Amino acid sequence: MRKKIVAGNWKMNKTLVESQALITEIRGIVRDENTNKAEVIICPTFLALPSASKLLDGSTVKLGAQNCHFEESGAYTGELSASMLKSVGVSHVIIGHSERRQYFHETNEMLAKKTTSAVNQGLTVLFCVGETLQERESGSHFDIIKSQISEGLFHLSAKDMSLVVIAYEPVWAIGTGLTASSEQAEEVHAFIRTLLTEKFGEAISQEVSILYGGSVKPDNAAELFSQMNIDGGLIGGAALKARDFFDIIKAIK
Ligand code: PGA
Repeated sequence: MRKKIVAGNWKMNKTLVESQALITEIRGIVRDENTNKAEVIICPTFLALPSASKLLDGSTVKLGAQNCHFEESGAYTGELSASMLKSVGVSHVIIGHSERRQYFHETNEMLAKKTTSAVNQGLTVLFCVGETLQERESGSHFDIIKSQISEGLFHLSAKDMSLVVIAYEPVWAIGTGLTASSEQAEEVHAFIRTLLTEKFGEAISQEVSILYGGSVKPDNAAELFSQMNIDGGLIGGAALKARDFFDIIKAIK
């Protein structure tokens, strides 16, 4: 049975001290109230990762980063590698978030190299895909998602796929308050699973968790998570408040 996952993407929010406070709060709530139905991952700023790793020692909450470079080391000023992330206790890394694709011009080709680098370090990749509003309105969203998935992930081996989680995040739903309806999301999730089946076979495609992201809130999470191919969520804004984040975690049944 594939894993149910709720991951918090904190983006460029929270100073070190603020991050430590939120991590401590989330850790406490998960310890006291967790129903253990979902794996919980938090992805704070790079700066907070080493101390987050210590604060989460002994907790079931997993630690993720929001990006990594595709090389292990070298002359790439300002960048961080997958091996560096691993060395401070990170187990997950978000790759291909639409904000990275849009503002930092990350291409499918670069993202394919990043996934290889992360997987080679044994990190689990939270690989994001999703269409813009214009792409949805013109009806090209399935083609866009197909190329994001095939160009970003299909160079991996079937074995590597055990370290891949996919997040479908329609760009028009991120931070906008506009959520995809559960039918719209399920349609794309089922499509992604079909792509995985065609490439890797039924057994592997059934094991890959596919998360939905884009304005997930405590009041819409249960409906989204009730869909057959929606295995949890990648949460932005609502992950910055411990109570909201936990209410979303509780929506996993
Ligand atoms: P949001 O962000 O929940 O604030 O829409 C989701 C994401 O970008 O991962």
